[in-house]
Amino acid sequence: AETHYHEFVIQAKPVKRLCRTHDTITVNGQFPGPTLEVRDGDTLVIKAINNARYNITLHWHGVRQLRNPWADGPEYVTQCPILPGRSYTYRFTIQNQEGTLWWHAHSKWLRATVYGALIIYPKLGSTYPFPMPKREIPILLGEWWDRNPMDVLKQATFTGAAPNVSDAYTINGQPGDLYRCSSKETVRFPVDSGETILLRIINSALNQELFFAVADHRLTVVSVDAAYTKPFTTSVIMIAPGQTTNVLITADQTPGRYYMAAHAYNTAQNAAFDNTTTTAILEYKYAPCNAKKGKSSPPPILPQLPAYNDTNTATAFTAQLRSPSQVKVPTQIDENLFFTVGLGLINCTNPNSPRCQGPNGTRFTASINNVSFALPRRNSLMQAYYQGQPGIFTTDFPPVPPLQFDYTGNVSRGLWQPVPGTKLYKLKYGSKVQLVFQDTSIVTTEDHPMHLHGYHFAVVGMGFGNFNAATDTAKFNLIDPPLRNTIGTPPGGWVAIRFVADNPGIWLLHCHLDSHLNWGLAMSFLVENGVGQLQSIQPPPLDLPQC
Ligand code: C2O
Repeated sequence: AETHYHEFVIQAKPVKRLCRTHDTITVNGQFPGPTLEVRDGDTLVIKAINNARYNITLHWHGVRQLRNPWADGPEYVTQCPILPGRSYTYRFTIQNQEGTLWWHAHSKWLRATVYGALIIYPKLGSTYPFPMPKREIPILLGEWWDRNPMDVLKQATFTGAAPNVSDAYTINGQPGDLYRCSSKETVRFPVDSGETILLRIINSALNQELFFAVADHRLTVVSVDAAYTKPFTTSVIMIAPGQTTNVLITADQTPGRYYMAAHAYNTAQNAAFDNTTTTAILEYKYAPCNAKKGKSSPPPILPQLPAYNDTNTATAFTAQLRSPSQVKVPTQIDENLFFTVGLGLINCTNPNSPRCQGPNGTRFTASINNVSFALPRRNSLMQAYYQGQPGIFTTDFPPVPPLQFDYTGNVSRGLWQPVPGTKLYKLKYGSKVQLVFQDTSIVTTEDHPMHLHGYHFAVVGMGFGNFNAATDTAKFNLIDPPLRNTIGTPPGGWVAIRFVADNPGIWLLHCHLDSHLNWGLAMSFLVENGVGQLQSIQPPPLDLPQC
């Protein structure tokens, strides 16, 4: 195994998109940031140097960070932020993971532009469980605002309203041909006729699930969230923020130019969203129309993408995923958790206040089991826990909602007023956990992509309507469920996961739509140490930032 050393200098750099130039927070001046390429078993040592004017942290999304929460990154959860002018070195080893993951800032909305791919190849001497592709291409789907995303967040936080939606979706940082002032920079991927390519697709968008397709080409899904799947072929994929999907595609069509394209899968009823389409071009080399420069060639073919509200296609895609063979799923459950996820509204005493610009003079909020997660400010949760500092958090997060009702009904939101809190749920080392997420459908039904740090979990079931413990549990897939780190809660529905709490530390669980995270759709698990050193949290690095 190798050790890879990198310096990530976080700095503002002018970036031009949609006819305008903005100072954009980047890593090493690159947007998207650098691609990390490693093998399973390798160690990464990344010195993050903060030369920007914001506090920042970096998160290695999906890396298990076994006994090493210090390298996980979420601000005020596992570490205090890296202040401007300071640095922190993330040091971690990839353990039994291969496929595609990614990294991103985990501080306010900085991940809008601070992100990149993390590619994990099999160990030397080991290969993919499918024929070796001729070429591999990372596809980072993103969102672009025609202003500083941190200002968009500030505005929303101040007014209590929903934040402005993005002005473009992007592929590898570029909006593509269908946007103003963008066609010169549209990303082009040259391919040879007949070759098979592995696309490593990452949804790094801030607030939007996306549909993705390539015109006239079939996609064979082989892996999600750095875990292999039973291969299956599809014309379109749905991918939620935080998720990755590896697909094989064969250049088996008439030589020419084909768009790959992504647009929104949007499940919030009546909510504003960006309804535009980002494109890149799959360009066969020696395609007849490209032979002569200067001659205008016909425009590439656009793929058919499902309608933005096509929940059936989206859910059917996700439900089709299976692990390649039998996986170990806990059967005897020690912790049976039921978490309601959804939005809420806070009543204002003065509905005309500029701080109450949500629906009918309210402020937006969000919660899990009616607790709206508030980040501590005086210390990070991990540091407070490790040092035994009291008063930073409590461990009384409710395992089931305080109030149960028909989550699919049109309930009065008066039933449901989220209460802010910094509450953790304690798990004994090695406990076997079942966790059901239920969309409350309050304010709106919505797909909430839930991400658990420090773990890979088995997705054992999902459905629409209210979760029914008696009938739904009996139908769980305990044989070959897919292993993931991020899973969407179907709009107006539920999803069930299982995992063994074998990674001690404090691990954030949250909706990967950053507007929801910002409103408090999060909580944290405190997984206690087991017996002996190999089941205990490692000591923190000496340069860990202090608050
Ligand atoms: Cu992709 Cu908490 O993060």
